[in-house]
Amino acid sequence: MRKLATLKRLFDDRALYCQLIVTRKCNLACGYCNEFDQVSRPVPFDTLVQRMDHLVALGVTIMDFLGGEPLLHPRIAELVAHAKRKGCWTNIITNGLLLSEKLIAALNDAGLDSMCVSIDRVTPTDFTHKGLRPLRKKLRALRTDARFQVETNTVLCEETLDEFEALVTELKRLGFPVRCGVRHYDGRLELNERLRAKLDWFDAHFRHWRIAPMMDLYRARSEARPAEWKCTGGYKFLYVDEFGTVKACSQVALPTPRNVLELSVADLKANDRHKPCETDCGVSCVIQTSLITDRPFRYAARCVQHLLATRGNGVAYGGFRKASALPAAPERAADVLAS
Ligand SMILES: C[S@@+](CC[C@H](N)C(=O)[O-])C[C@H]1O[C@@H](n2cnc3c(N)ncnc32)[C@H](O)[C@@H]1O
Ligand code: SF4
Ligand code: SF4
Repeated sequence: MRKLATLKRLFDDRALYCQLIVTRKCNLACGYCNEFDQVSRPVPFDTLVQRMDHLVALGVTIMDFLGGEPLLHPRIAELVAHAKRKGCWTNIITNGLLLSEKLIAALNDAGLDSMCVSIDRVTPTDFTHKGLRPLRKKLRALRTDARFQVETNTVLCEETLDEFEALVTELKRLGFPVRCGVRHYDGRLELNERLRAKLDWFDAHFRHWRIAPMMDLYRARSEARPAEWKCTGGYKFLYVDEFGTVKACSQVALPTPRNVLELSVADLKANDRHKPCETDCGVSCVIQTSLITDRPFRYAARCVQHLLATRGNGVAYGGFRKASALPAAPERAADVLAS
């Protein structure tokens, strides 16, 4: 029933998906990231509640909490609970390092729907501390205690490609769904042969329902064919920064900047247009949302075609799965979790 309601929402002219920044502060400093600082205070709870209420009035039903590091917000579970009361699907994107049993229990109680844990390598480096090794205890706790769905996200770039196959293979063995993004530079994608080869390997070895339309776009670009898509940033997709300013995505401001509390349905419609940065865009979450919301039937057909073509590749790794319902870890993977 809920899926049907979300499906209908693809065809109206209101917003659907929001990324809400709850604090700009982060406990890490990843070498590819320009979305954090080390000094910001958490956005006050009441301010975020006001923003969420207005976003829901504009149509938002999928609410991502992120930062900076969203788990640094002292009232993150209460924020999730509020979004749930407003009828949203809730998701937290996190580096996972601050997860504790207590916090997982609070997020369970709040009704969190899903969590995306960012993991870039097996071994952490100075460039990215988001390694499987420091996260193993957290993944074990999620596996046993979380009542929400869990998937992982890996940023593929020069500094992570040496362990890419090892990482995604290990995550696959552990049973965690893997999402793979390519590093963007202030929003621009810079794909080279080495990165493209890794993506092709991923595409060939993992049954991932969401990857095919994105890969089509990348291929069209690399072959200098027109990549047909329209960015729905500022329209179906809203990025709300810590000051409440609505942006097209984490990297690009809208032509007419607005505070979220002043944003109207007419403003949304005005943002339903092509953006000059589409040609080189590398902001994969917005590309995905745009591909779905702009041409839902074409998107669905392509995903089905991909799933049929990759039947031999076993389990699909593109969807969320409840952490506590993940398949038992095989021996080698269990070692990684236990060590
Ligand atoms: C900005 S972070 C915020 C949430 C949290 N701190 C984390 O790392 O998951 C959200 C996601 O964006 C990814 N990200 C950050 N900078 C990126 C870049 N330049 N290219 C691609 N992904 C990036 C992160 O790895 C993470 O999965
Ligand atoms: S943990 Fe997340 S917000 Fe923090 S620096 Fe890394 S990618 Fe950016
Ligand atoms: S096309 Fe959209 S998502 Fe991509 S950089 Fe531009 S505004 Fe951001």
